[in-house]
Amino acid sequence: MTIFTAANSRTIIEAAQALRAGQLVIMPTETVYGLAGDAGSNDAVARIFAAKKRPSFNPLIVHVSGLPMAERYAEIGERAASLIARFWPGPLTLVLPKLIAAPLSPLVSAGLSTVALRAPAHPVAHALIEATDLALAAPSANLSGQLSATRPEHVSPDLIAAATLCLDSGSCSLGIESTVLGFSENDVFLLRPGALARADIEAVCGELSVPADNAVTGSPGRLLAHYAPHTPLRLNVKAPQRGEALLAFGARTPTFEGRVLNLSARGDLVEAAANLFSFLAELDREGHERIAVMPIPQEGLGEAINDRLTRAARMF
Ligand code: TXA
Ligand code: MG
Repeated sequence: MTIFTAANSRTIIEAAQALRAGQLVIMPTETVYGLAGDAGSNDAVARIFAAKKRPSFNPLIVHVSGLPMAERYAEIGERAASLIARFWPGPLTLVLPKLIAAPLSPLVSAGLSTVALRAPAHPVAHALIEATDLALAAPSANLSGQLSATRPEHVSPDLIAAATLCLDSGSCSLGIESTVLGFSENDVFLLRPGALARADIEAVCGELSVPADNAVTGSPGRLLAHYAPHTPLRLNVKAPQRGEALLAFGARTPTFEGRVLNLSARGDLVEAAANLFSFLAELDREGHERIAVMPIPQEGLGEAINDRLTRAARMF
């Protein structure tokens, strides 16, 4: 039986003991909730894949406390080091060459020679890594292909059943997953837009490239079928129709008699990103015919929001 418990110094120690014993824990991060397990344990990592019903070719992010710990697992080049100095701890994941001796389950990287590393800024996630001194494999705590959970009550029952403990820390402040970057000799690739905006990254390492070929440089997580609610979505809607619920953005919303949730009435993309998954989950549960989404500007965190919405809409 999974125990839901408020995250505090006592329950963090309990969770750390569970993780060291190879069990799984649902932990808050500043982006979304994660289903965490010891990244060095084949058994723990295999159970994460099984619980998520995740295709095993899609590798997991390994969470570390910071640069010194990252150096146990990957070769940190100059460009990665400057990004780490500027943005860790925080919502930035770097896909780096894995050290041959890295004490990681090969399943974590799905057999690739790279590993995705991130140092979460959330004090609970950070404390768990410090208390265990383990790198934690933690994908978003949702079933593969479904919406990420930004509150413990949105974590799916299958994942809850797989974990020993769920540390409740309320809503995640950022609400959208980390930005994922990959490297080639000459380029830095944006593998997944996320909670750290492109412009902030480009200020440190110059213009980001888009991977031309998934198989070579891309992230398997760029698969289109991802992040979908059960209710069909219609995007860029200016005039919602009867039977639809409206996911609005900004102060100027169309007059509409139906259900409306506004991602950010003041047109703030950071607030909109934080609300995205929980509002979609809420409308999804209400059983509307369709969810109509107003246009979201493609700037700042709008890039990540539109990425998730486009993938979700393509499911139908
Ligand atoms: O914000 C986040 O990143 C959250 C929290 C819990 O930290 N985690 C998360 O993990 O979103 P997940 O497993 O749902 O997404 C991991 C992404 C996927 O797109 C995956 O394909 C990519 O990272 N990835 C992981 N390892 C990779 C690798 N070695 N090469 C390329 N892409 C990789
Ligand atoms: Mg995910």
